[in-house]
Order: sequence, then C-alpha cells, then structure tokens
Amino acid sequence: MTSTAPQTTPLASEAADAAPWWRQASVYQVYPRSFVDTDGDGIGDIPGITARAEYLEQLGIDAVWLSPFYPSALADGGYDVADYRDVDPRLGTLADFDRMLEQLHARGIRVVVDIVPNHSSDQHAWFQEALAGGRGSAARDRYIFREGSGPDGSLPPTDWVSVFGGSAWQRVDDGQWYFHNFAVEQPDLNWAHPEVRTDFVRTLRFWSDRGVDGFRIDVAHMLTKDLTEPLPSQAELDAMPRDGQHPLIDRDDVHEVYAEWRAVFDDYEPPRTAVAEAWVDRARVPRYASQESLGQAFNFDLLQADFDAGQFRTIVADNLTLAAESGSSSTWVLSNHDVVRHATRYGLPNPPRMADGQPAIKHGLEWVLAGGPEGDLDRVLGVRRARAATLFMLGLPGSAYLYQGEELGLHEVAEIPDAQRQDPTFFRSPGVDAGRDGCRVPLPWTAEGGSYGFGDGGAHLPQPAWFADHAASVQEGAGGSTLSLYREALELRRALQTEERLEWIETGRADVLEFRRPNGWRVITNFGTEPHRIDDAEVLLSSEPLVRGMIPGAATAWLAPSAD
Ligand code: NOJ
Repeated sequence: MTSTAPQTTPLASEAADAAPWWRQASVYQVYPRSFVDTDGDGIGDIPGITARAEYLEQLGIDAVWLSPFYPSALADGGYDVADYRDVDPRLGTLADFDRMLEQLHARGIRVVVDIVPNHSSDQHAWFQEALAGGRGSAARDRYIFREGSGPDGSLPPTDWVSVFGGSAWQRVDDGQWYFHNFAVEQPDLNWAHPEVRTDFVRTLRFWSDRGVDGFRIDVAHMLTKDLTEPLPSQAELDAMPRDGQHPLIDRDDVHEVYAEWRAVFDDYEPPRTAVAEAWVDRARVPRYASQESLGQAFNFDLLQADFDAGQFRTIVADNLTLAAESGSSSTWVLSNHDVVRHATRYGLPNPPRMADGQPAIKHGLEWVLAGGPEGDLDRVLGVRRARAATLFMLGLPGSAYLYQGEELGLHEVAEIPDAQRQDPTFFRSPGVDAGRDGCRVPLPWTAEGGSYGFGDGGAHLPQPAWFADHAASVQEGAGGSTLSLYREALELRRALQTEERLEWIETGRADVLEFRRPNGWRVITNFGTEPHRIDDAEVLLSSEPLVRGMIPGAATAWLAPSAD
C-alpha cells in the first residue's frame, strides 16, 4: 500500500463538537405508516415511533426525519397533504406528536419533518374551495387553473407530461383544467400567490414552535413557475436550458421563497435546519445548500452508482467540492423511500448506462416489475456489498441519511400482487414502472406473529416470509448481524467524528479505496474480489471478518488513528 503525503493530524473532535449539529449528523428516515402500528389498523402511527424510542436511541442516530404523517388520502404515500398543520387521525393526534417529540428529545434525538410545498392534496380545504368556487373565483388562484385547448377546450392546455406519467393537466367538472406535476390528486400550488407564501411560513412556525428541529423540503426545485402565455410545448420545455429561467424547474426566484424561510429558521435557537430535495444540475445544487437558502441539499449520486470504486471516489470528491462551495456539509444517501433498496441494487447485475453514460436512477425496478426473479438476485452478495457501502458512507465527512429497514439488511420486496400495490407511479405507467411499494413494506420487528411484530392488525403492504430472518429481534445482540454492525458503526462514528475533510490514500489497486480523516481515522473499502492486505493499525470495525490481516472482497474496515 502506498500513501500520498501521509500526515498525522491530532484528534480534532473539538472542532466537530462545536459545529452545528446537522453538519455531520446521522439521520434515520422513518416512513411512519410502515414503522410500527400500535392501534391495529395495519398502518404505522406516531405512538409507534414513540414506542420504539429506545430502539432509535440504541441505534445511535442523531436525528429522525419523518416522511409525511399529515392528514392525507394517501394518493402518494402521504406526499398529498390535506392539512399541513395536523396529524392524520389514523396516525394519532397532535398530542401524540408532542409526546413523541418529547421522548425522542429526551434521548438526544432531533426530529426533522417533511414539508411538501409544491403541491397539496386535492382534499386540502383550499382545493375543495377552488372546485366549489368555480371558474374565475379567487380560490382558484391559489392553484394553477387554465382553460383547455382545442375548439371546445376539451383538450389539456398543453401536452405537458407529469413526473408520474400521463398528462400533467386534469379537467374539472366546469371544464377548466388544473396543473399537477405529480399525481392527479396533487394539484400544484401557485407560488405567485401571497397567501400560499404566508401559509407555509405559518406551517414552518407551527412545527418549529412545537420544537421540531428541522425540515426536509420535498421537490424544493419546483415551487415557482413562469406561466406566461403562450405556454411552451413539452418538447420546447425539454430543450430549454435549466439556467434559472426555465418555466417550471429550478428557477432562480425559488430562492426568494427560501430567503424568507431562512429568516424564520434563524428566528429560533438553535436555528431550525432544512435539507432540500432538489433534482437540479450539479452546478446549481450549492444555491439550495447555501446558508442564505435552505442550508443543505441532498446528494443522490450514491443512489445511482454501482458498487464500484471509481464511481464512489468521483462522487465523493465532486460532492465535497460542491459542499465547500455552498459552505454546507455534504449529504450521503444509499437508500430512501423512492428507490430500490441498496442491498437489492447491489445484488443485481449492474444496470446498463444511459446514452450520456449516466447510470439509471431506477436501477432494480425492472427486476421488481418482472416479479423479482430469484435467479437474477444474489441476496447474500447484495447485503454484503450494502454493509460495505454503508460503512464507507458512515466514514465520510458530512451527514449520512439512513432509511428504515436498511439496518436490518432488508431487500426490496418484489412479491407484491398488483391488486395490493399503492404507488401512483405503478398505476400511471402500466407495465413500465413497478413503483416504490417494495421499499415501503412494514418493518419486521419479530420473527413470528401475523405481521412480524409490526402490529396486531396485519400490514398495509404484504410482508414476504423471508422477513422473518431479518427481524430486529433475531438480529438483536447477534454478533455479525447487520443491526449490530449499524449500532457499532454509529456509536464509533460519533466517538471518532472530526473535521469535515478527508485525504485519499492511494492503495495501488483500482478496486480498493482508502481515505483518512483529519484525526487519523481511516476507512478502507475493497470493492473487488481479491483480498487486500492492510498495515498493522488497529481494526476498529469491519463489515466482514478480516482474513489473516486482509480485507476480503466486498468489505470495509475502519482503522484507528495511529498513536504517533
Ligand atoms: C418526492 C418524494 O420523495 C416522493 O416520494 C413524492 O412522490 C414526490 N416528491 C412528490 O411529492
């Protein structure tokens, strides 16, 4: 092993300790409807999160991010919000929410909630008012209503296609059309309307006043729009540069909204935080992550990468540069509620590249769509690589976002009958997109019981028999289990945390990456199959047992800072 300018830096954890909490936090995403069900209706609830506060504490995370738990008709897994300042009665009450917050805070766990500002649910009081108010009513101005095209207005105003497939316009009874970037049940709000702006400030204050620590902002790059007539065609939209002036996506003026929100966040002590879900050109990510805007932005590059040393290194280097540009820290994500779980992605053959050489974000979905043929998935290899990738990620500077169930080494569930699927992406793209239900199946807590300990009333998405082997109770305390690995890694990560930098160490192998953090903590990942010899530094943790001082293939080891 050769090393570039090895340099021993003293432990620098004081600097890390003094930094704002979010900069290098481990954030665990809870999808509330699939976490724990305490009232036996088959749907996870807020008291279920409270009931597992100890589990979350033992996991060693710094914060939870809750996907939407608001009243919703569940047309898009809760991302169709009917009331931004309440709890869905099926999930509990505001008092339950306060109790959960108190319990998590008492255990040193912060709470981040999801804000969905681009669109509301069609069940939202404003949209119902807009429907009732009719053509030309003030209530319609809070959304995007237009007359149709064609001689009698019976065609949509434009040929725009929704992100979930099909037309982005829906006709209402009086003949007008409304715009929806996502599902029909998710009408886009009109961000040029002052009431829309003030209402979201009210929502941010509502949750901040209750003690919520931060916000995850759904499709943060879509809110503001330039709908000056004549509206362009879809082909024209596609050809337009995404330079801040695009009519629908990543407009510069969205940051006027976030500047206003920033003033709200900074009104609290400690300031409330936000992380943007912004699918924008790389060069424009720092705008969202800047401290004048939302403060942090998701980096989804690892979600799209193969288990490949070259890809991982480029992604890490690029994103640390981007984070430095904005003054934020980088975020790292291997799994979330929108993609095939990383254990499964890594157990399937690598996806074909797209025409521009980029990987496909939807990797794994073709496998799910085909019903999950067992012969194509190497389950053991997938989990092994997932453990190695997670340990690599948890060693990186910045904040790590984990998705519920990955700590159990869960695979994507492919065996969901069509009749039981819920995701609108499945229904709006028949035969093309299997949807995201497979990563949203209720968690297995125990190896027995009707719903593997999720609740007494079954599970709202069917759980496969192999969930029993992954149950938290089976992995609890079991040496070598994925749950034990996550717990050890998260505890160590806290103890070792240091300045937000790394230095690459050349390993002499294209398939082995090694980096060192400023306090000397080293992370080595073998992405290949041949074992890799390491020096005699103390091994603090490894995703697989070392073999005669060597890191086997598809494994990561953390090495202790050296004594000199
Ligand atoms: C992004 C969310 O992550 C996804 O689950 C949702 O469907 C869309 N935004 C629309 O809200």
